[in-house]
Amino acid sequence: MSAKQNPLGLIPISLLTLTPGRLVPVNVYSWVMGADRPQLFLASNQILEPDFVERKPEGTELRLFIEPKTRSAFQQYLQTLVNDRDFLKTLSDENRSALVSEVVRDLLASAFKSNSAATIVGTANVLGQHIASLISETELSVTGLSKILYHDYGTFTHSANVALYSSLLALRMGFQEYSIEDIAVGGLLHDIGKLGIDDKILNKPGKLDDMEFRIIKKHPLQGYRILASDANVTTCQLLMAYQHHEKMDGTGYPVGIESDEISQVGRLCAVVDIYEALTSKRPYRNPMHSERAIEIMERDAGRHLDAEILEIWKGFVLEKEGVLS
Ligand SMILES: [Fe+2]
Repeated sequence: MSAKQNPLGLIPISLLTLTPGRLVPVNVYSWVMGADRPQLFLASNQILEPDFVERKPEGTELRLFIEPKTRSAFQQYLQTLVNDRDFLKTLSDENRSALVSEVVRDLLASAFKSNSAATIVGTANVLGQHIASLISETELSVTGLSKILYHDYGTFTHSANVALYSSLLALRMGFQEYSIEDIAVGGLLHDIGKLGIDDKILNKPGKLDDMEFRIIKKHPLQGYRILASDANVTTCQLLMAYQHHEKMDGTGYPVGIESDEISQVGRLCAVVDIYEALTSKRPYRNPMHSERAIEIMERDAGRHLDAEILEIWKGFVLEKEGVLS
């Protein structure tokens, strides 16, 4: 929806974050394709009826929005739900994942905007617990999870998605060295070194020039420096930030170490980092389909990416699409 079509600057929300039987503290609007204005779908402080989805006009996709001024009240409401473990257990895998990922993305965005490393690390530690619980208690496939996530390639969206994917991969491959929570926090923090980089470079449509690429290439070391000065940051998290751009043949950065000189968690992070980037929207291209992303990544198996970890990830990505079965 363009700014012209959305003059009120309404904020889209996921239908999956609304759960019946709960009081929603803000007005929720629906907007039918082709209509010139939104309709009030649910007035604030009303309890959501179990059949609310059926109220959508027939044959149309239900697109819901809130007003910008109610954004923080809505986010607060979602946070309360996510902190209620007993309530979370009553939800479907899809609803639970949508709720947790929405809160992770939003809180991480606010933390990144604060520009304070201590705030980001503190927030990541709280969110890492939510992600670890979600991943351990949810049966969603990678593609099931991916359908729920945002794919807009803001640094915080990317980091939230990398955290979810890294945790899922580590859990399913029986990764023993570090806990899932540790890895989730590492995923949230892996690109923290991009904090000082101009958005114009981060979101540049098209190829970076040499100078811009040199600036981008500093972010793992910069991230390491930021994190190393914080006593709450673990070895696992430092390795994910420092090594996620190293390559198996030694052509990566910041150091150019090769194969098993790169920690296993650094190699794991590299695989999901690239997968997330390829399957997300970029300023210059649409998101790539998961199969196509895997196909492209396989060209780099063993050369750039750890072939064994990539093979395991490929299995998880394609498992529910019947490609491998
Ligand atoms: Fe990175």
